[in-house]
Amino acid sequence: MLDQLESLYEASLAKLGEVDSTAILETWYRDTLGRKGSIYLLTRQVGQLSPDERPIFGKRINVVKNELEAAYSARQAELKAAELADKIASSAIDVTLPGRPLTTGGLHVITQTLRDIYRIFGDMGFQIYRSPDVETDAYNFELLNFPPHHPAREMQDSFYTDNPDVILRTHTSAGQIRAMREYYPEPVRVILPGMCYRNEQITTRSSIQFTQVEGLAVGTNITFADLKGTLTEFARRLFGANRQTRFRASYFPFTEPSAEMDVTCFLCESKGCQVCKHTGWLEILGSGMVHPTVLRNGGYDPEIYTGFAFGMGPERVAMLKYGIDDIRQFWNNDLRFLKQF
Ligand code: PHE
Repeated sequence: MLDQLESLYEASLAKLGEVDSTAILETWYRDTLGRKGSIYLLTRQVGQLSPDERPIFGKRINVVKNELEAAYSARQAELKAAELADKIASSAIDVTLPGRPLTTGGLHVITQTLRDIYRIFGDMGFQIYRSPDVETDAYNFELLNFPPHHPAREMQDSFYTDNPDVILRTHTSAGQIRAMREYYPEPVRVILPGMCYRNEQITTRSSIQFTQVEGLAVGTNITFADLKGTLTEFARRLFGANRQTRFRASYFPFTEPSAEMDVTCFLCESKGCQVCKHTGWLEILGSGMVHPTVLRNGGYDPEIYTGFAFGMGPERVAMLKYGIDDIRQFWNNDLRFLKQF
């Protein structure tokens, strides 16, 4: 029986040497050292031995068992290390592969244009003043010197609500009175940006909603020269240092005198092109000295205070800058259009 044990020992070790995976290793363990394994089965035959052979056999089988256990542990460690190395090698990440790009959002071209305008006026000391999109007839018209039934109201066709006094603002000028009433008697330097609404035919050049940026400066000793200087400097910063400006007399009920400002065409450098209709000039904004009645409505005594105001359309600025020929593009939400900016 001792011979049997020795050959079982050798055979088991040889088998263990051939085991090449942890799964097979577990089978080997079960068949050899497990509860019904070959070593155990041999132990059960001890009864057949003579009493003096038994201790010798018992001692030897314990040694064999321990040797096999140790060999098993060593093999197990080897196999686990090999399997881990395999796994690492096969699932290795190629760090030289370029990453997948994230899809990022972007700012709407009008938001970009607005921010350019904010930055320039911010540098010149103007604060942003927010006023409501929904206005009363008083702020939008009456306090701006449009008397009821004045034909000038027809310059701007409004959207009315069920409340006859409440309309969607047709221009950001509606916020002028709010700003003055809030700042009085301090000087005012504000720009008022926001969406405006007019009940108009929708065409390539006019839309029922569009943004405006209003500007308002009120104080003492403010003259038309300040208006021209401020707006000319603005035009240079927005459209380029070589821009020239010209002011043409115009009419708005809330400014006197009133003027529209043109800049030399930055697309053709005034040589004449489609966009400037071969005049070399582009119309950019409306402006003027704040009308005495409007100053008074804002709380400022026109004998002491003067001021200037202006209003421009960022859509128009962006259309000129990027050669966009249809104002409806801005609010169509067509990504092919929007992604270009
Ligand atoms: N509110 C005028 C418009 O909508 C623009 C303007 C603003 C003109 C301020 C003069 C002064 O056309």
